[in-house]
Amino acid sequence: MRKKIVAANWKMNMTQAEAARFIESMLLDLGEITDVEVVIVPPFTAIAKVMEALGRAQNIKVGAQNMYWEKNGPFTGEISGPLLRDLFVHYVVLGHSERRILFGETDEIVNRKVRAAHEATLRPIVCIGETLEQRDMGNVEKILAIQMRGSLAGLNAKELQETVIAYEPVWAIGTGRNATPDQAQEAHAFVRHILGEMADDATAERVRIQYGGSVKPENARELMSQPDIDGALVGGASLDPRSFVQIVKAARER
Ligand code: PGA
Repeated sequence: MRKKIVAANWKMNMTQAEAARFIESMLLDLGEITDVEVVIVPPFTAIAKVMEALGRAQNIKVGAQNMYWEKNGPFTGEISGPLLRDLFVHYVVLGHSERRILFGETDEIVNRKVRAAHEATLRPIVCIGETLEQRDMGNVEKILAIQMRGSLAGLNAKELQETVIAYEPVWAIGTGRNATPDQAQEAHAFVRHILGEMADDATAERVRIQYGGSVKPENARELMSQPDIDGALVGGASLDPRSFVQIVKAARER
């Protein structure tokens, strides 16, 4: 049985004070939650504050939104895996479509980062997903297979199991237009099939695949009740603690 994982991708939002207020409010509801894995992914500048606000609530994990593949050195402006581990970060989101589209990240770059994350004992959340044009052309499976095989190249079965995949159709991100539960389930089942080809069926069964793209309290339950949808990567609706808490609670209801 895969434990559901719901992550709050705050993107380039949240001052330290806002982050602390969010965590305080969230802990009133989720302070004891253990049946769903909850991950907060703040901007780098708020990570330490979020850790401090979480205090002893070790059931809630913290992630970063990006990292560089080198461990240290003359790479002005970059952050490495070991530097994130130094802050007790557990997860790192890699290959988000905003990074692919706005910052030119290719599958090869994402793959270098994914391998460096495992080396640093960080768990990557690797984002994949097609554009609307690619969907309209009937190329969803082709694109997902290329992104999977490229971004996850060279990982062994154990590393694959410790990787979270986030299926995020680009046309659903920040648009208010989510994939239907059927569309998402179909893509997730295909992603799991590719994982089976890359490793073996037992490994594929253990990997958690999150859905992302306009997840909100109103659609979260139906999406996450699909057999291959193991949680959500939430952008806009994760900036408000009440809506994020509702989405986490929706992951509990089976
Ligand atoms: P959204 O973003 O929930 O605002 O659509 C999701 C994401 O980009 O991870």
